[in-house]
Amino acid sequence: MSSVTVRVPAKVNVQLSVGPLRDDGYHDLVNVFHAVSIFDEVVARESELVTVRVEGEHADQVPLDDGNLAIQAARALAKHAGRTYGVELIIRKAIPVAGGMAGGSADAAGALVACNELWGLGLPREDLMEIAADLGSDVPFSLLGGTAVGTGRGEQLTGVPTGGDFHWVFAVADGGLSTATVYGQCDRLREATGEQVAWPRVNDGLLAALAAGDAERLGTELVNDLQPAAVMLRRSLTRTLEAGRELGALGAIVSGSGPTCAFLARDADHARELAAALSGAGVCRLAVAAHGEVPGAEIV
Ligand code: C5P
Repeated sequence: MSSVTVRVPAKVNVQLSVGPLRDDGYHDLVNVFHAVSIFDEVVARESELVTVRVEGEHADQVPLDDGNLAIQAARALAKHAGRTYGVELIIRKAIPVAGGMAGGSADAAGALVACNELWGLGLPREDLMEIAADLGSDVPFSLLGGTAVGTGRGEQLTGVPTGGDFHWVFAVADGGLSTATVYGQCDRLREATGEQVAWPRVNDGLLAALAAGDAERLGTELVNDLQPAAVMLRRSLTRTLEAGRELGALGAIVSGSGPTCAFLARDADHARELAAALSGAGVCRLAVAAHGEVPGAEIV
C-alpha cells in the first residue's frame, strides 16, 4: 500500500461541565461529545522520514514541526510498534484551526488510523484508543465519533444513544483561542467569584433529548462551563450568540473552548437558512451548516 486517506470529523460539546483543577493541571470533566459533518482528511504516503504538509484555509496556522499533533501521533504509533517508520502526512483542513472543534485531535486520530493501515500494523481500535489518550484529551473521541460521554479529563468514553440526526450551524470566528488559556481563564473567574466548584455530573435532561432526537429540548439543555471564560477572552462572541438566538436557533453555545459558536437548528432547511442569515449579519467570518452524529476516523 503506498497511500491511505482517512476522513475525521469535528466535534461539538453538547455538555462540557468542568470540575475542580487536578494536581496534574487538568480538570475532571463531564464532556458530552457529538461528532459533526465537518471533516479533515489525513493522507499518509510512504516516505523515509516523518513529515507533514497542511492544505486548506488557515493551513499556515498549523505547526509543521514536532508540535503538530499528527506528527506526534505517527511517532507514538511507531514507538508502540517498536519500529522506526517514515510517513508523509498531508492534512486537508476543513475544521477551524484552534476553533474549539477538536481539529488538531482529529488530525492526530486520522494519522493513527492512516499509519496503522499504511504500515500494515493491524492494531485493534483499543490499542489506538490508548495511544490517542496520551496524545490529548479529545483524541480518543475523534477516533470513536458518534455521541459519547467523556469523563476523567475527557478521554474515558461511553457511547450515548441518539434518536435521530441533529442539524447545526457553526459560526467560525477570525483567529483561534488556546484551550489551555481558556481553562486558565475559567479557573481565574471561579477564584475571583469564590465559586464552589461542584463535581461534574451528566445532565440527564440532555441525555433524554439526545435519545429522543428532540432538537427543541436539546437546545434548552446545552451546557458549556468554559463559555464565560471564552466570551471574556473574545467579547465579540456575545453578539454572535445573541444574533443566532434572535435568528431563531433552538440553542446557542460556544463550541468547546471556542471561539467557534454552535447553533442548533430545527432541520436541514432551517440550518441552511440560519447559516445564510448569520453570514449576512456580520457576526462571524464564516457560518457552516452541518449535521450530527457522524462516525469517527475512517478510511475512505
Ligand atoms: O489534553 P489536551 O492537550 O487537549 O489539553 C489541552 C489543555 O487544556 C491542557 O493543557 C489543559 O490546560 C486543558 N485541559 C484541562 N482539563 C481537561 C482537558 C484539557 O485543563 N480535562
